[in-house]
Amino acid sequence: MSDRLRGKVAIVSGAARGMGAATCRRFVEQGARVLVTDVVEEEGELLAKELGASAAFARLDVAREADWTRVVEDATARFGKVDVLVNNAGVLRAVPLPNMTEEIYREVIDVNQIGVFLGMKAVVGAMVAAGGGSIVNISSIDGHQGTPTLVAYVAAKYAVRGMTRVAALELARAGIRVNTVCPGATRTRMMDCPDMAGIDIEGLSARMAPLGRIGEAHEIADAALFLASDESSYITGTDIVVDGGAISGVGVEMFSQVPS
Ligand SMILES: NC(=O)c1ccc[n+]([C@@H]2O[C@H](COP(=O)([O-])OP(=O)(O)OC[C@H]3O[C@@H](n4cnc5c(N)ncnc54)[C@H](O)[C@@H]3O)[C@@H](O)[C@H]2O)c1
Repeated sequence: MSDRLRGKVAIVSGAARGMGAATCRRFVEQGARVLVTDVVEEEGELLAKELGASAAFARLDVAREADWTRVVEDATARFGKVDVLVNNAGVLRAVPLPNMTEEIYREVIDVNQIGVFLGMKAVVGAMVAAGGGSIVNISSIDGHQGTPTLVAYVAAKYAVRGMTRVAALELARAGIRVNTVCPGATRTRMMDCPDMAGIDIEGLSARMAPLGRIGEAHEIADAALFLASDESSYITGTDIVVDGGAISGVGVEMFSQVPS
């Protein structure tokens, strides 16, 4: 199937790398036109070039409302409308609570939480004009559980799930659906975060996820694709967890020791 998003126009934030880039690739493969946006300009431009006439790049710092206004205008001017927003941009800082500075905390909240709020707010007018739309917010399994050292990240990812529910309720009658994708550990540059240097993320993921391995960016993109497409037309205000079973798998190690 190659037309699951035929005729749709999407904006993807944090799209130069990782899951955002994988999402842009999937969306274009499936017939969408995509505005690739990021603060990383060179890689974003290269991706848009690789994707051809169905894509363009625009600089977007998700924490700046003026950037969002410009990007929505840009998408509408280039492609005629906006049907889909994937609020994907994110940063990770892993710092134990006593050492967490207000500056780092605010930096994580600015991008991961305020960025999602500003993105949703910015696209509503264009989506109403298009007759409806789909907003996909990338939260995390850290929006479902506490994780040591991630006080700011966890707070932001819980907030994304909460905001998603509010937006879903407010926007349903306008035909705008709002959902989250909650990835578990996924192989992207985020996993190379200097705060986590030396940690064997792949090995730990293999043990923690019942499916026995780390996730791949295209597996997150596939969930975003489903939520962006009309295949999910009766789904709003909910989460799709894409984590190899990790958050369902508490106790897997202990109980797998029970003799058979
Ligand atoms: N990789 C994982 O294991 C994992 C797990 C759960 C959730 N997530 C979430 O998935 C999303 C994508 O992360 P990823 O793993 O692809 O990471 P990544 O680091 O590969 O990509 C994140 C992108 O966001 C961009 N970005 C950072 N700050 C920005 C800003 N202010 N404005 C616009 N863009 C900005 C970066 O330039 C980068 O291109 C994030 O929201 C992240 O929190 C990742």
